[in-house]
Amino acid sequence: MMNIGLLGLGTVGGGVYELINQREDMNVKYVCCLEEPQGMRAILTRDFNRIINDPEIDTVVELMGGMNPAKDYVVRAMRAGKNIVTANKLLIAECYEELTQLAIECGVIVRCTAAAGGGIPWLTAIARCNRVDKISAIYGIMNGTTNFILDMMHRKKVEFDAILRQAQQLGYAERDPSADVDGHDIRNKLIISANVAFGVSMPPSEVDVFGIRNIRQADVATFLSKGLYCKLLASSQRMGGKVTAYIEPTLVPGESPEAAVHENFNLIGYDARFAGRQSFYGQGAGRYPTAYNVVEDLLDLNQGEASFYADKADQIHISNELAASSYYVRTSKPDAWLQERTAARWGEAYITKPVTVKAMHAWARQSADPELFLAAIR
Ligand code: HSE
Repeated sequence: MMNIGLLGLGTVGGGVYELINQREDMNVKYVCCLEEPQGMRAILTRDFNRIINDPEIDTVVELMGGMNPAKDYVVRAMRAGKNIVTANKLLIAECYEELTQLAIECGVIVRCTAAAGGGIPWLTAIARCNRVDKISAIYGIMNGTTNFILDMMHRKKVEFDAILRQAQQLGYAERDPSADVDGHDIRNKLIISANVAFGVSMPPSEVDVFGIRNIRQADVATFLSKGLYCKLLASSQRMGGKVTAYIEPTLVPGESPEAAVHENFNLIGYDARFAGRQSFYGQGAGRYPTAYNVVEDLLDLNQGEASFYADKADQIHISNELAASSYYVRTSKPDAWLQERTAARWGEAYITKPVTVKAMHAWARQSADPELFLAAIR
C-alpha cells in the first residue's frame, strides 16, 4: 500500500483525493492544506513536519502550485527520502536542474507528467521516444485557457475580457490568469518539455514570450478574412548543438491541425528522426484530466518506475537568432526598424519580411505601445 502526503486540496488536489479514494492500492494519509474540507478520510494538518516525519509516508504529492511554500516542502520531502509527484509547472521549470540533481543525491524519484499537457501522457511519450530516437523539435498548443479564449474569439466573435471570465469559471485558468494570457504558463510547459526532449536545462529568462492579452476582435476578423487562425504556440527546435525556444501567437492556415483544436484542448507533439511527426491531442487542463495523470504517476512509482524522464540536463543558452518568420504587427507606434522590415500592410497592421524571433521579440519588448499585438505567420 502506497502512503501519500497530499499538499493542496484545490481544483487538482481535490480531484486527486477523489480518485485515490476510489482505489485499493494507495492511501492519502495526510492532507496539508489551508481549506477545511468536510468528510475527509485522511488526517488534515497544517504542519508539514507531520508528513516528513512519518516513516509510513513514502510519497508526497505536491499540488499547491507556485513557488512558496511548494519548493521548500518538496526539497524537505526529498531530503526526508520521499518520492515526489507534482503538477507544479512553475516549480519544475524554474528549478529543473536543482530538483533533478537533488533527486539523484537523495535517491528519490520526481515525476511531473501532469505539469506539461494536463491529462496527456506527453512527458512519458517523450521519454519513450528518446529510448530509440532523437527528437529534433517540439511544438504545440499547450495552454487550455488561451486556446479556449482564441477559439471563442474566432468562432463566437466575442471580445477577450468576456471569454476570459468564462475560462476562469470553467476552472481552466490559473488563479492569476495573467499566467495564462501573458504566456508564462505555456512557457513553463515548453521549458519542461524541451528540457526532457533534448536533455538540457534552459534558462527560463531566455525564452522569448509574447502572449495574447492585446488581441482584439478586429485582428481576428482580419485573420479570418485571409483564411488564417491565430493560436498561441510553443516551439523549440534542436539545431546542431543549439536550441531555440519561444512562445508567440501564430497564424496558421485554416486547414492545419492546430486550427481544428477547439475549446481548452491541447495539441502537442514532436518531430523525430525515425518516428517522424507525432502529435498528441487531448485535455490539457481541468480538474480530472490533470488528476488522472497525477494518479498515473503514482501508479508508475508503485510499479517500480525508478527514473526521471531524462538522464541529463546540460546547461545551455537559447539561440532564438536561428528561427525566423514574417510577422503581423499591429501597433500605433511604428518606428524606422519596423518600417524598414515591412513587406505589406493588412489594414493598419504591418506585415514584416522574415525577421528572427530574437529580433522581433527584442523590438516588441522595447516598444512604447502598450496595445501592441504581434503574431508570427507560418
Ligand atoms: N491554466 C492551465 C491551462 C492549466 O489553461 O492550460 C493547465 O496547466
